[in-house]
Amino acid sequence: MEFFIDTAEVEEIKEAYSWGIIDGVTTNPSLIAKSGRSQEDVIKEIASIVDGPISAEVIATDSEGMIKEGSQLAEIHPNIVIKLPLTIDGIKACKYFSDNEIKTNVTLCFSANQALVAAKAGATYISPFVGRLDDIGQTGMQLIEEIREIYDNYGFSTKILTASIRHTDHMKAAALIGSDVATVPFKVLKALYSHPLTDKGLEQFLKDHASASN
Ligand code: G3P
Repeated sequence: MEFFIDTAEVEEIKEAYSWGIIDGVTTNPSLIAKSGRSQEDVIKEIASIVDGPISAEVIATDSEGMIKEGSQLAEIHPNIVIKLPLTIDGIKACKYFSDNEIKTNVTLCFSANQALVAAKAGATYISPFVGRLDDIGQTGMQLIEEIREIYDNYGFSTKILTASIRHTDHMKAAALIGSDVATVPFKVLKALYSHPLTDKGLEQFLKDHASASN
């Protein structure tokens, strides 16, 4: 399973990358806006830190505009993955990029049929948003199960990139289902390491070691 970090905050990326478990980065227009910097600056800096796929999203909503914008983003660095919304225009642009061997991440996926059309268009990654489905009373993880089954039925090579991860249980469920990738906020990545019994056990080991050495 590949681990991506879902942020445009460079300091978070630097720290998480130093832990040695990060394979790539995803950004979106909301995350870039939150960083207060231009998309180009942020993406360039991320590419200088992380050696792996970096998703950068287009703003245009028509396929021609997406192709133009995505082609410019792809020029920034060979690791850039063009993030496109799951609309007819987005899927048209996805087909263009896959025909031209440029990697894509089709985002805002909320149904198995949407994931199916993205795979037909040759998407490199499909991003189903599990947390946002949970927010409206659905079960986001069920969508990951459905997409896994459909992609396996036909041998689609599109990678399932579980997105909108809100807590560590989402991560565990994604891993159990066999999601290829999970993109995870910094706070959730950090929480993956922790367990109260680890802290308690370590404290006891150190205490016992100290008393034995006296
Ligand atoms: O990057 C896309 C996705 O992970 C967004 O997550 O928490 O805004 O639903 P969230």
